[in-house]
This record gives sequence, C-alpha cells and structure tokens, in this order.
Amino acid sequence: MSEESLTLVPCEPGALTPAELRTLFLFEKLTDDQLAWIAAHGCTMHMPAGGVVIREGDPADQFFVLLSGTIALTRRVGQDDVETTRTEQRGVYMGATQSYLRDDGIPRKYMATMRALDDSDFFVMSAADFGHMMREWFPMAIHLLEGLTLGMRTTAAAISERQRLTALGALSAGLMHELNNPAAAASRAAAALRQRVAGMRHKLGMLAAGKVPTDRLIALVDLQEDVIERAAKAPALTAMETADREDELGEWMEERNVTGGWDLAAVFAQGGIDIDCLNEIETRVGSPDLLDQAIHWLGYALETEQLMSDIEDATGRVSNLVNAAKQYSQMDRAAHQWIDVHGGLKSTLVMLNHKIGTGIRVVKDFDRTLPQIPAHPAELNQVWTNLIDNAVQAMNGVGTLTLRTYREGDHVVVSIGDTGPGVPDELKKRVFEPFFTTKPVGEGTGLGLDISYRIVVNGHGGDIVLDSEPGDTKFKVRLPITEPASA
Ligand SMILES: Nc1ncnc2c1ncn2[C@@H]1O[C@H](COP(=O)(O)OP(=O)(O)OP(=O)(O)O)[C@@H](O)[C@H]1O
Ligand SMILES: [Mg+2]
Repeated sequence: MSEESLTLVPCEPGALTPAELRTLFLFEKLTDDQLAWIAAHGCTMHMPAGGVVIREGDPADQFFVLLSGTIALTRRVGQDDVETTRTEQRGVYMGATQSYLRDDGIPRKYMATMRALDDSDFFVMSAADFGHMMREWFPMAIHLLEGLTLGMRTTAAAISERQRLTALGALSAGLMHELNNPAAAASRAAAALRQRVAGMRHKLGMLAAGKVPTDRLIALVDLQEDVIERAAKAPALTAMETADREDELGEWMEERNVTGGWDLAAVFAQGGIDIDCLNEIETRVGSPDLLDQAIHWLGYALETEQLMSDIEDATGRVSNLVNAAKQYSQMDRAAHQWIDVHGGLKSTLVMLNHKIGTGIRVVKDFDRTLPQIPAHPAELNQVWTNLIDNAVQAMNGVGTLTLRTYREGDHVVVSIGDTGPGVPDELKKRVFEPFFTTKPVGEGTGLGLDISYRIVVNGHGGDIVLDSEPGDTKFKVRLPITEPASA
C-alpha cells in the first residue's frame, strides 16, 4: 500500500446526460433506459493536476471512466513505483473493473495507484452499482468472464503446485543420491573392518605363540601407537606422491622379504609412513625374525584406523545432509521469523551439491555482520535454489559460482553470480515472465524466476534485479531489514 494520501474531491451526481454518456465507447451500445439508469447512479469528479485518485491496495469500491485530462497508473515494486500506464484517451476505465465477478469472499483491492497528471475529469460509479448493472444486464457475458478468470486461476494454481512438486521431486532424488554414497561407503568400510579385526586377533595369537619376549611385545604396542599418531598427522599426498611413496616402501619390504610387502606398501603410504619411519620401526623391533609379523601387525593397525575414519566421515556426512535437508525444508520451524540469510544459503548449497559438480568453483563472500531479517525461510530457500540452479545450468559444468551478501542501506542483498554466457539484452525483461524459458521442452518450465520474483517482491517486499554481461551475470535479491508495513 502506498503511503501518500488520497486527494479528496467531491463527486457531483447527475452531471452527465444519457446522450453524453453514449459518447463514451464503453456505453455506446446501451439503450436509453440503461443510459438513464447509469446517469442517475453515477457522478462526475474533477481532480486537479497531481491529485491521487486511488491507491494500490485500498478496497476497490469505485469504477472510473476518464472524461478528460491525463492519468498515470503506477504499481509498487519493492521500493520503486513503476508506471504501468499513462493515457489521455477519453473513455478508458479503471478502478473496480472486476466488481461484477461473483463474490468469492476475498475483498478486491485496487491493483494500481492512479494519479491525475493534468487537471482531469472522471465519471464515477460505485463498485456495487457497476457490479449490479453488469450482472443484471449482461448475465451471459458475466458467466463467460467468470469462467475465464476462474479457469485462469485454477490453471495458475495447478501449475505452481506442480512446479513445487517437481522441485521437491528433484530435490529428494538429489538427496537420496547424496545419502547413498556415504551410506554405501560406511557399510563397505564396516565389512572390511570386520575382516581386519579378525586378522588382528589371528596375528596376536601368532605373536604370542612365537615366544616373543614381553618387553618386545610392549615395545610393539608402543610402536603401534606412534605409527597411528603419525598417520593421523600425515599431510595429504597427491596421487603422484602416493604412487612414488608406494614404490619406495614396496622395495624396502621386498629387500627384507616381508610377505605381501607390495600390498602393505599401499596401506603404509596412505597412512603417511615413509622410509625413515620404516627404518626406525626396524630398529625398534630389533630381531629380523620378528620384523615380518610386526610389519603386518602395524599394517592392520593402520588399516583399521583408516577404515574407522572412513566410517566416521561417511556417517558424519549422512547426518550433515539430514541436518541440511531439515534446515532446507524448515520442517521444524515456524513460517515467518527473523533469520540470518546465511543459514539458508549454506543448506541450499549442500542440497544442490550434486548438481554443482566438481567443475564449478563456489566462492562464498559473506558479510557475517548482517542483521537478521524478517522472512519465510523455506520460501527464500526456494529462491536460492532457483537462482543457483539457473546459474549452474548456465555455466554448463565449468565456471565460478559466487554467493555474496552485503548490506545496502536498510536492505540485505544476496547476489548470486555466475560466469556463464549471460542473458542477452533483448531477453533481460522477459526472464521473469512465467513460462519464459530458453531450455528445450521438458527441461525447464520457465517458472523458476517467476516464482522467485513473487516470493521476493510480493512475499517479502523486496526486489530482484538482473545484471548481466557475458561471463558475469548476477541476480541480486534485496530484502528489507525492517518488517514490511502491511505484511
Ligand atoms: N544465470 C543465468 N544465466 C543465463 N541465463 C539465465 C540465467 N538465469 C536465468 N536465465 C534465463 O532465464 C530463463 C528463465 O529462467 P527460469 O528459472 O524462470 O526458467 P528455467 O530455468 O528455464 O526453467 P525452470 O527454472 O523451471 O527449470 C532461462 O531459461 C534462461 O534463459
Ligand atoms: Mg530455472
């Protein structure tokens, strides 16, 4: 609703004769009786230049026909008033233009603010009279119009419901895919661990039966702790370095006739053990007879340790995903609340991880000092999903996705940037239209940006703007920090 006040001017009843009314294109086909009825029920209004005739969002209770002058219609989009129409055409009508539709319980409001740009005159009827007249005189036309608006509404509702379901379907498919990997990895690791532990029990029996002096056994257990500690601290090697390391260790084992030395070499290399460390182990074990068994024992210790961290990683990943999914869908949160935009951005990134792939670098440039904003978190997540999804698709697997947050006056701005080909100038205006898509049939519904726009602009009193040139495209979502007055 616009804050400025209406310009109140009197409306003078009966100022137009039926003959004058007939000169307006709306009324030209009416009978004398009908025109007389309209003349008796309407009034005329003179609005000085600059006057505000009606305000967007106010109850639509009057129907206007322009007799002379110039008017402009504006709609509020975010912080701006956008002029949608400017006309001086005699006979154009506005205001309660839908008052003839059956009352569906939702009060009708003016869709735009109307200003007089010059001194202007209007013929005015109350919405009740206008609706009554239309229904009485043109019942068949009203049925058809009702069918049309109702049809359009149900189509739009069915489609947006469908889009939501499709998005949900894609999301849960993605989530299942993401969950499946760590779950499978964890159960593989658990099975391998069982084998290794059985192997260790066996080896322990052999070590004990081999009449190893107690002090040697104690030394071996100490050694095992050292080796595991070293493994935990080992810097990650590249694939090349690992292969080289395996070769060195394999040769070392071969020289000392360690059985299965090459297999063990892989385990030791992965555990961050180098030749120096093996030499030290050899010294500490002392007797050459014991070396083979000791090396195997340490190999088992390393391997079980690695398998346990694999299981830890995998199960940790599962619970991260479940957390992200929970946050994302806001299953356990109220609809409208004060939120930090970063939570939603991060959980959306996790949810879309499989789509983003490895060829796309993700840069997070977050201003952590941003205040909380009043919002519907689940809806905003839908916006982030649509924008990131578009960016990722535009980059076709390679590029940089930049998520930036910053403050701009009393707005929080979330900018989602990509290095794709961009949106050509002639399409910039159209991308937000429902069903506008450049993707092949079946791939895009063209609703992603339309829905995002409605969530941000209508739902949050914010704004989305597009800045695009080849290699640098940004969708900037501006969200007010203060609660919108009417929400
Ligand atoms: N980051 C971007 N880079 C280049 N073009 C874009 C970008 N985002 C959107 N577009 C263009 O805007 C069009 C409309 O986007 P929108 O998200 O509304 O629908 P869609 O992505 O085609 O389909 P859907 O989102 O339903 O899968 C896209 O088809 C594309 O041409
Ligand atoms: Mg899209």
